[in-house]
Parts: sequence; C-alpha cells; structure tokens
Amino acid sequence: MNLCKAFTRQTAVYWVLFLGALGAVFVLGALSARYLQREAERRYVYKPTVEIRAFEPRNQIWGENFPKEYDSYTKTAETNFKSKHNGNAPIDMLEVDPRLVVLWAGYAFSKDYKQGRGHYYAIQDVYDTLRTGGPTSDQDGPQPTTCWTCKSPDVPRMMNEEGITKFYTGKWSRLGSQIVNYIGCADCHNEQTMDLQISRPALVEAFARQGKDIKQASHQEMRSLVCAQCHVEYYFDKHKIEGTDYLTFPWDKGMNVDAMERYYDEVGHVDWVHQFSRAPMLKAQHPDYEVFKLGIHAQRGLACADCHMPYKAEGMQKFSDHHIQSPLNNVEATCQVCHREKTEDLVRDVYERQDKLLENRDRLEVLLVRAHLEAKAAWDAGATEAQMKPILQEIRHAQWRWDFAAAGHGNSFHAPVEIARLVGAGIDKAQNARVKLAGLLVTLGVAGEVPYPDLSSKAKAQTFIGLDLPKLQQEKDVFKQNLLPKWLEAAKQREAGWGRKLAPSI
Ligand code: HEC
Ligand code: HEC
Ligand code: HEC
Ligand code: HEC
Repeated sequence: MNLCKAFTRQTAVYWVLFLGALGAVFVLGALSARYLQREAERRYVYKPTVEIRAFEPRNQIWGENFPKEYDSYTKTAETNFKSKHNGNAPIDMLEVDPRLVVLWAGYAFSKDYKQGRGHYYAIQDVYDTLRTGGPTSDQDGPQPTTCWTCKSPDVPRMMNEEGITKFYTGKWSRLGSQIVNYIGCADCHNEQTMDLQISRPALVEAFARQGKDIKQASHQEMRSLVCAQCHVEYYFDKHKIEGTDYLTFPWDKGMNVDAMERYYDEVGHVDWVHQFSRAPMLKAQHPDYEVFKLGIHAQRGLACADCHMPYKAEGMQKFSDHHIQSPLNNVEATCQVCHREKTEDLVRDVYERQDKLLENRDRLEVLLVRAHLEAKAAWDAGATEAQMKPILQEIRHAQWRWDFAAAGHGNSFHAPVEIARLVGAGIDKAQNARVKLAGLLVTLGVAGEVPYPDLSSKAKAQTFIGLDLPKLQQEKDVFKQNLLPKWLEAAKQREAGWGRKLAPSI
C-alpha cells in the first residue's frame, strides 16, 4: 500500500516535472520563434542606402539597396555552363550549322550570329557583332536606332527624354553615347515600389490593339510579361510613321506562327529579298514568349520566372535568384520544386525533346538550301516573275516556319509539340516548292540535279555566298578604335554628373 502510495506520489512528481519541462520548452520555443521572426522581419525591412532616381539605368546603384538581387543578377556574366545545345558559353551558330549562311544569304545574319550568352553581355555583344557594322559617325551604319530597344535600361530613359517616335528614328549610332548600361533593374521594376513594371511601349501597344489592358495583368502573368518585352517576335514598321523604324509585335491576328504569317502577308512585310532565290523573306526573331505560351508548362500556369528566376534562400532571406540562365544549371531549385525525378532524368527529358526536333529541323534546312539554289537556277535559265511568284511564296512560308522553330533556343522544351508541327509543315511547304521547281526547270531545259555546295564550315559557306569577311572585320576594328571610345567617354561624363545620392533616412 505504502509502496504503492509512494510510487504514485513519485509518479505525480515526475509528471509535474515532465509537464513543467514540456511547458518550459514550449514557451522557450515560442519565444525563440518569435524572436527569430522579429529578427527576420527586422532584416527584411527595406532600408534604402541610396536614392534611386526615376529611369536610373545604373544597375550598381539599385544594387546598393538590393545586394542579393544585384549580386545574383551580375552572375549573368558567367560563361562556364554548357548544356547539350545551350548554356552561357559563347556559341558561334554559323560555325555549328553553316547551312544558316545560305538560308540568310543577302541578310546581315549571314555575316555573324552568336547564341545569346546572358543579360550582362547585351551591350558588349551588340558592339561586337558584324551585323551592326562599323559606323564612323552618328549618321551611318547598317542598323537603325530601334536595334537598341531590347538592350538596356537607358532605353526607357531616352524614350522618356526624347519621345518614343524620336527614339525609333535614325541610325543605331545616333544613340551610341546614350545607351551603355546592360539590361537591368529599370527594365523590369518600378524604382519606388519595386513592383514589376512594363517599360517597353511595343508590348503595351500590341496588347492594346488586341483590346487588352496590360495593367490588368495578374502578378503571375507579370512574371512572364517582363520577359515578353524582349523575348518575342517583332519587326520594324516603316509605314506607321514615315521616317521611323517603329518597333511592332505582329500579334493583331493572334500569336502563333500562322496568325503572324497572315499578318505579315497582309501588310506586305519583307525583311529581305533572298540573294539566290529572290524570295521575299521573313526573319523570325526570338518568339520565346509566344511559343512558351503554347506548351504544357504555360498551360499549367507557370511563368518564365518559375524556371529562369527561382526562389533562393540565403541566411534568413528568401529572394528571387536573378541569375537568369538555363534552368539545367540549377535543376534542384527549378524543375525539382515540382518534379520528383532525379536530376539526370529531368535533364534527359530536355535533351530528348531537343535532339528529336533537331533531327527533322536539319532535314528542313537541307531542303530549304536546295530550294533557294534551284530557284536561282530557274531564274538563270530565264524563268518569269509570274512563274516564280507562287514558288517564292512557298519558300517564304517554309523558311518562316523553320526560323520560328529555330530562333528561340528554349522552343523545343517550351512547346515540343508545337515546334514539331512547325517543322513538319515547313518540310511539306519546302517540298512543294521543290516539286514545282523541278517541273519548271524541265520546261526551261535545265537537266540534272542542281549541285549542293560544300557547307562543311562557316568559312566555306561565307565564301560560297561571296561575303568579304576581312573587310567587314576591318570596318569593325576601326569603329572600336575611333568612335566607340568617344561614346564611352561621353557616357562616363554624363553619369559622373548624376552622382550618387544617399537616401534621406541616412
Ligand atoms: C528581366 C526582368 C528583371 C530584371 C532585369 C530585374 N528583376 Fe528583380 N525581379 C524580377 C522578377 C520576375 C521578380 C519576382 C517578382 C515576384 O515574383 O514578385 C523580381 C523580384 C525582385 C525583388 C523582390 C524580392 C525578390 O527577390 O523576389 C527585388 C528587390 C528585385 N527584384 C530587385 C532587382 C534589382 C536590384 C535588379 C537589378 C540589379 C533587378 N531586380 C533586375 C524581374 C527582374
Ligand atoms: C530588355 C530586354 C530583355 C528583357 C526584359 C529580358 N531579356 Fe533575356 N535577353 C535579352 C537579350 C538582348 C539577350 C542576349 C544577351 C547577350 O547574350 O548578348 C538575352 C538573353 C537571355 C538569356 C540567355 C541565353 C539566350 O540564349 O538568349 C536567357 C535565359 C534570358 N535572356 C531569359 C530572360 C528571362 C527569363 C527574362 C524575364 C525574366 C528576360 N530574359 C528578360 C533581352 C531581354
Ligand atoms: C512550378 C512547377 C513546375 C516546374 C518548376 C517544372 N515543371 Fe515540368 N511540369 C509541371 C506540370 C504541372 C506539368 C504538367 C503535368 C501534368 O499536368 O500532369 C509538367 C510537365 C512536364 C513534362 C511533361 C510534358 C511534356 O513536355 O511532355 C516534362 C518533361 C517536364 N515537366 C519537365 C520539367 C523540367 C525539365 C523542368 C525544369 C527545367 C520542369 N519541368 C519544371 C510543373 C513544373
Ligand atoms: C518549365 C520551365 C521553364 C519555363 C517556365 C520557361 N523556360 Fe525557358 N528554358 C527552359 C529549359 C529547360 C530550357 C533549355 C535549356 C538548355 O537547353 O540548356 C530553356 C531555354 C530558354 C532560353 C535559351 C537559354 C539558353 O541557355 O540559351 C531562353 C532565352 C528561355 N528559355 C526563355 C524563356 C522565357 C522568356 C520564358 C517565359 C516566356 C521561359 N523561358 C519559360 C525551361 C523553362
């Protein structure tokens, strides 16, 4: 009995001790959680170091207030990641695939075409490319000012200063001393609220013409729309306002390849006349946004930022990783947020889609090279405009589909089924053109196969189309020695004049 009582008393004491300890742990836990939360909140409080002016184009100024975003953004300078077909290491696309030189014969892309590296290089690469030539003053050179539009936060600044129409006027060299900062914060953010914001009028105008107000876009839509300011199909409309190259997105009839083709055919837009076939060609730019929208991930509500700017935690702070790059360099933070498969399986999924599409895309390229050269043979043998017109239209439409598929480097993953459809339709149209050409060549008395050139290297392909590369390179070198340093010096002076203002709270 006694024993039992003693035992019970002892048990009760243990219980009291136990519950007491539990309570203490709970209270301590709750307190420390609150402390940590407070601590975190304290650190999250936005304390600006510097004042960010409206249209501030200098990323490093924004970076003083937002070091995590800035530090990760400057990693777009890295060039050490190569995936099977993409990544940030420089790739000379004309070397990888010399057929491109013939497909673009007569157009600037046949001179030079490198795969994009990263936002950090947006300005440098546009200085370097042979496509911008070697201007010697603010009034010459092959490209218009509009070429700057997707390169820099100095663009919204200049559009504000001189007006949109003026901005789209004149030569690329006209704004050389103004546009010097690589793509950055002011392209996507409001400097007061840090909300995502559209800084490029072409996107706002394209939405408006479709009867949509971009200001009504949801937050998730904005996480793609900031990219759609630049990663889209576009053209320079020379007729909207005479004397300008007005940047325009061809979306009025819809946003897929067929709707944009109808649009271009109706307005009679021609990017260039092909050197061999004389077909009125279209050049697809980089319809990343439009193609992405047709894929399963967009249909399930994902935005570009979900894979290209995933959330990241460092210490107590969670932020968006601004190292915009191939998601394959960061599968844990991107794909594996939603998919449980192993890294190598997810990477294989991507490569499989890319490789299978490349197989047929390459076949289409060979057909197009042949079609251009057979058309030339027909012209040479005396074909008439009337005989050639339907054939050239077919070549235009076939190459438009090929280019639309090839020009977006994420396309084969973003929307593989749509890209397969385009390549299939391209093959059909290219073959149609060739069947018609074969018949025409027979009536013109041309016998045998039109020879296929040696396209085993970029140099051979460029010689075949008659490009004088040393001359182009020399013009570029002169530009870099004479005019470019003047642009950079003028920009340095201007920015020194703006200075750096501390935020009022400090
Ligand atoms: C290409 C567009 C783009 C550029 C350029 C860009 N950002 Fe962002 N930023 C985003 C997106 C998208 C988000 C995610 C917004 C969201 O989901 O709320 C974001 C989020 C942020 C946030 C909110 C906190 C966070 O990390 O999610 C801050 C602060 C920020 N960015 C600062 C900057 C700074 C500073 C720069 C320049 C160094 C910059 N951003 C450049 C698109 C951009
Ligand atoms: C102001 C125009 C602009 C905006 C806005 C923009 N980009 Fe870019 N982007 C470019 C340009 C130009 C390049 C090529 C830069 C270079 O390598 O010289 C590029 C390059 C890239 C690359 C590197 C690889 C490649 O092949 O092109 C990726 C990935 C990318 N952008 C994704 C995005 C995403 C995602 C967004 C939105 C969060 C975005 N970009 C917003 C203009 C822009
Ligand atoms: C935010 C979530 C999310 C992220 C991040 C994500 N996915 Fe998906 N993924 C989905 C959803 C949802 C589907 C559609 C599956 C369904 O509805 O059953 C899908 C479908 C797929 C499919 C099958 C569709 C097809 O093309 O046939 C593949 C493959 C795939 N994802 C690979 C990837 C890879 C690789 C990455 C990283 C680069 C990735 N996903 C990132 C959510 C995501
Ligand atoms: C579900 C994930 C996912 C989403 C969402 C997504 N992408 Fe991609 N993106 C990829 C993958 C995977 C690749 C192929 C990367 C590779 O081959 O290295 C890619 C490639 C790219 C590339 C070429 C990158 C390079 O290294 O050359 C660009 C540019 C790009 N995407 C832009 C966009 C834009 C713009 C959006 C939104 C409109 C978007 N992506 C949405 C997964 C995604």
